[in-house]
Amino acid sequence: MGKKQNWMILCCMLGLVWLSGCAPSSQEAKKVPEMKVGILVYRKEDTFLGTIVEAFEAAAKYAEQQENIKISVSVMDGRGSQAVQTGQIEKCIDQKYDVICVNLVDRTVAASIIDQAKAAQIPLIFFNREPVKEDLERWDKVYYVGAVAKESGILQGHLIADAYLNNPERFDKNNDQKLQYVMLEGEQGHQDALLRTEYSIRTLVSEGIQMDKLVNDTANWHRSQAATKMSQWLEKYGNAIEVVICNNDDMALGAIDAYKAAKKLEELPFIVGIDGTPPAMEALAEGTLYGTIKNDEQKQAQAMFQLCYSLVFHGKAESDYTLEKGKYIFINYLPVEREIDKVSTGNKEQ
Ligand code: GAL
Ligand code: CA
Repeated sequence: MGKKQNWMILCCMLGLVWLSGCAPSSQEAKKVPEMKVGILVYRKEDTFLGTIVEAFEAAAKYAEQQENIKISVSVMDGRGSQAVQTGQIEKCIDQKYDVICVNLVDRTVAASIIDQAKAAQIPLIFFNREPVKEDLERWDKVYYVGAVAKESGILQGHLIADAYLNNPERFDKNNDQKLQYVMLEGEQGHQDALLRTEYSIRTLVSEGIQMDKLVNDTANWHRSQAATKMSQWLEKYGNAIEVVICNNDDMALGAIDAYKAAKKLEELPFIVGIDGTPPAMEALAEGTLYGTIKNDEQKQAQAMFQLCYSLVFHGKAESDYTLEKGKYIFINYLPVEREIDKVSTGNKEQ
């Protein structure tokens, strides 16, 4: 999706209604009210996180255009190192940022970060990598915005099950009534990797499908690592691979790269990802990716932006999205398949 389209969707969704009434009144605001936000990501090249950052920046720009306010958004890259990211958080605290949004490198270190932010009274919004409940309960100005990982696994399982049950001959190449699959997993210890892996398979099995795992491994959400793994598996298992289940789209694209590099596109199995990133949507249109589950970056970014805005200008957390237990905002996932392959009832109730 192009920037312009993103922008238009955002303008419609964020809406004037939400912003109006939130702005400080003109009597209060002698000088232009300002908000300084830090956005810290575990790795800037991560495709999905790039889309969240872009949507957040667009929301900030839009709000600035609607109101007489100034918003500065500083995006910092943790480069995969918690030590680097912790240093960046300390810098944001020293420089008196108004609010800090953190996509942790290592989600087990949240407690000490929360304690530092609390001492400085700077609200913290964690996103995408969910700290444990006990850590989030250390202070009331700590929030989490993300999606329910388990739901994406269930939807991915249903997407594969629907396709297979509607056309078993197409997928069961060796006709043994089982689905031979390989699984490309995200980073070990990440809630999305663990739950997507578990619930995609559980869902398929609960639909009565016999799953036969050939091999699984982590490719850390990376396209290139996934391509390397897939090339090795392709050499070993070749045409026996009927399904490639991927914890995210970048790894699904890596798997497709491996088939392209081996000039085996005619053997391309049923490849599914999660995220619905722009390059994945292109692969879907091209016909190499079978399906994906949309991880809604627009809504996640809006929810984060609304929290930042209301915390800074109103001193309390407000959002169009439900704030569970005063702390959590979870955005739903949605299945996306190629038009020509749509076979079923679409979005199933969970
Ligand atoms: C997941 C997403 C992955 C990757 C990961 C990073 O939610 O599906 O593509 O971005 O977060 O933490
Ligand atoms: Ca089979």
